[in-house]
Amino acid sequence: MDKEYLLEAASAARCRAYAPYSKFLVGAALLTESGAVFTGGNIENASYGMTVCAERVAVWNALHAGQRRFNAIAVVAECSPPPSPCGACRQVLWEFAGNIPVLMGNPQGEREELTLLDLLSRPFGASRWSENPVSQEMLGKEAIWRLPVSFQPVGFVVNNYSEPGVIPDNYKHLLSKIVIDPGMEEGLYRLNEEKNIIVIAHLNKVSSYTLKDKRSGRGNQVYGVFACRAPMRPNALAQSVVELVTVEKNILTVKGLDLINGTPVLDIKTDYR
Ligand code: THU
Repeated sequence: MDKEYLLEAASAARCRAYAPYSKFLVGAALLTESGAVFTGGNIENASYGMTVCAERVAVWNALHAGQRRFNAIAVVAECSPPPSPCGACRQVLWEFAGNIPVLMGNPQGEREELTLLDLLSRPFGASRWSENPVSQEMLGKEAIWRLPVSFQPVGFVVNNYSEPGVIPDNYKHLLSKIVIDPGMEEGLYRLNEEKNIIVIAHLNKVSSYTLKDKRSGRGNQVYGVFACRAPMRPNALAQSVVELVTVEKNILTVKGLDLINGTPVLDIKTDYR
C-alpha cells in the first residue's frame, strides 16, 4: 500500500476525533496484513485522564473487528514536526503490531517515518496474541452471533437518485456510475470482458428489518427475509446484477442498477463463467 494513502486515511480520520478540550485533532490509520485500513481519532473526556489517543482508538477498532496482524500505522495532526505516538500507544502497538513502520505527517505535508522500535527501544513484553478459532461448542454457548463484521467500501454509486423512493420502475434502463477506490483500480483488470457483473452494496439508509412479513415484491404474501430480496434485512446488503457498459480507469458505467447516489459498494464480482 502506498504510504501517502495511509497518511490520507489518518488525515481523514481527524474529522471524527472528539477533542473539545485540547482542540488538537489527531487521526490514525492502521494497515492490516490483508490490506484493510482501520482508523481512529482521539476521544477526550471531561475527566481529562480518560482521554484515549487516536492510535489506540484505531487499534481497538481493528482488534474488535477481528484483525490481528498489522503492517503499518500513520498518524496525522496539525503540528510541526509531525506527531509521534505517546508512550502508552507505543506499548499498545508493540503488543499487537510489533516493529511496524510509523508514518507521521501533518496537513502542511511534512512527513517522517520511523519504526516502532526506533520509538520504543527495549520494549516490555512480547508480541503475542491468542487466536480463538470458533468451535462448534462456542456457537452453541456464546454471544458470538452479536459480534460485528466490518467492511470498507471499495466504491460508491454515482447517479441522480437521492432516495430509494425516487428510483423509477424502469430502472433496468438507468445508467449509473460506480467510482472504485483509485487505490484498487488494478482489481478491475479484465473486468471489461464481462457483459454483466454483480454489485454487492450496503443499503446504508436501511435501519430496521422484519424476519417474516408481507413482501410487496411478492404479491403481498408473507415470506421470511431470507426467502426474498427485501432491502430491509439484518445486514442491509444489496446484490444487483447489472449490464457493464464501460470501464474507464476506476469508473464503471453500468445499466440497471437499483441503488441510490452515494451507496457504498462493498464488492464487484462476476458470475460463473
Ligand atoms: N493524542 C493522540 O491522539 N495521539 C498521540 O499520540 C498524542 C496525543 C491526543 C490525546 C488528546 O486528545 C490530545 O491529543 C492532546 O493530548
